[in-house]
Amino acid sequence: MKKMFLGTNWKMNKTTAEGLSYTEALTDIIPNYPEFEFFIIPPYVQLWKIRELIDSKKSALKLGAQNVHYEDAGQFTGEISPTQLKEIGVDILEIGHSERRQYFNETDYTVNLKTLAALKHGFTPLVCIGDSMQDKKYGVSKEVLARQLKIALHDVPAEAIGKFWVAYEPVWAIGVNGIPAEAPLVNDIHNHLRDVTVELYGEAGREIPLLFGGSVNIDNAKQYAPFENVNGLFIGRSAWQPDSFEAIMKSL
Ligand code: G3P
Repeated sequence: MKKMFLGTNWKMNKTTAEGLSYTEALTDIIPNYPEFEFFIIPPYVQLWKIRELIDSKKSALKLGAQNVHYEDAGQFTGEISPTQLKEIGVDILEIGHSERRQYFNETDYTVNLKTLAALKHGFTPLVCIGDSMQDKKYGVSKEVLARQLKIALHDVPAEAIGKFWVAYEPVWAIGVNGIPAEAPLVNDIHNHLRDVTVELYGEAGREIPLLFGGSVNIDNAKQYAPFENVNGLFIGRSAWQPDSFEAIMKSL
């Protein structure tokens, strides 16, 4: 079986107590699934305590933050810098999630600056891209995604391959109002994204993990996972309880 990344973004959910209890449960579960590499992405305020818990349990669970600023420090009220996240011991920086793009003015260009900053500081950037329902309706999803990816990875050298991941999350598939994507579409788009990474980096571009997210659940995860260019699943609601997350692991 190919190596798969499985992780969840909690978005703006869970108290610290809930986050700790979830993490405790997940660290007990994941040794039973050595074929996967697991990550969780809690809200900023929980990162210190969850880091301590993961370390105390000597768990392989990777820890991510949901956003980052691209400057090391400065007059940016309300923002968090890469150096601050480094101090906590965060592993992954999620960059350009569609909710950040939609509600907080994240652009392809800031995604690129953040990706470069994350790599500079030794994090694993998890670069998120996604097409809108309009893009899908007008048949331009592939062009839109190629553009997002090329801008996000601008100036990212081939030497960084293996140190960053890409997540395709169709905006129309995400969240409570999302429509789960048909498996053939996921396969087609991921093959296209692979063509783009090969165009950018040559054959080495095949080594860039491509994760899929957006209404991934117990029914569809097993349809997406076997595709050659689906290297992981990035899950929201269906992984917010340890037992429902484990049900997905079991289904794969
Ligand atoms: O970051 C993962 C997320 O956007 C997917 O959310 O709830 O549709 O699985 P959900």
